[in-house]
Amino acid sequence: MTIRVATTADAQYADQLCQWYIDSAKQRGTGIAKREPAYVAHKMASGDSVIAFVDDQLAGFCYIETFDDKTFVVNSGLVVNAEIRKHGVGRAIKQAVFELSRSKYPNAKIFGITTSLAVMKINTELGYKPVTFSELTSSEDFWKGCKSCKNYGILTENERRMCLCTGMLFDGSAPLVQLQVPDFSAGTHDPQLVSPDSAS
Ligand SMILES: CC(C)(COP(=O)(O)OP(=O)(O)OC[C@H]1O[C@@H](n2cnc3c(N)ncnc32)[C@H](O)[C@@H]1OP(=O)(O)O)[C@@H](O)C(=O)NCCC(=O)NCCS
Repeated sequence: MTIRVATTADAQYADQLCQWYIDSAKQRGTGIAKREPAYVAHKMASGDSVIAFVDDQLAGFCYIETFDDKTFVVNSGLVVNAEIRKHGVGRAIKQAVFELSRSKYPNAKIFGITTSLAVMKINTELGYKPVTFSELTSSEDFWKGCKSCKNYGILTENERRMCLCTGMLFDGSAPLVQLQVPDFSAGTHDPQLVSPDSAS
């Protein structure tokens, strides 16, 4: 597996990634913020995203957003190819985007809101703590991202104090943690991309 900071040339994958966002939202039956390919391409061009490949095929992605004058950072839009989930790719991407966030925005608080158990596990390993929404950014730009979520009504009914997502926050002053991910560089731990026909 190769994981690297995405570049302008990776814009060719933006449509595919946005389709994965739609597919996974349908599959989970929960809310997930919709993303436009142009926005994903913009994140790639600005050096604020991480992209992964297995066997030279797109394997996953995650990007950084900043709020409140870059004092709050979110690692958003984590997605892994559905064929190779549960092999550590999501954890490896999250570690990479977290490190990129820490190096680009060393003093920022890093946070996220999620209903995903996998993301909660990874965030906890990285040192995030669960918090109420009062500890997160109050930036309109962040919360407007929830508008396309099917639970947006619940969020607004509660005046943005709570919703179905759990808020998680990494305090920028905490030490960095190295997660235990398979040694992909050895080549023996790469998840294999298989066509649905050949999968057992
Ligand atoms: C969430 C997602 C990125 C995880 O990627 P992944 O490559 O499967 O994750 P990993 O293999 O690194 O797993 C990390 C941990 O989460 C667990 N996990 C993964 N998927 C899980 C699931 N659906 N339910 C419960 N736990 C899960 C893994 O078992 C692992 O924990 P463990 O080491 O204790 O066993 C992937 O499922 C995905 O793309 N989902 C659709 C998009 C999405 O939901 N994004 C998050 C929005 S906040």
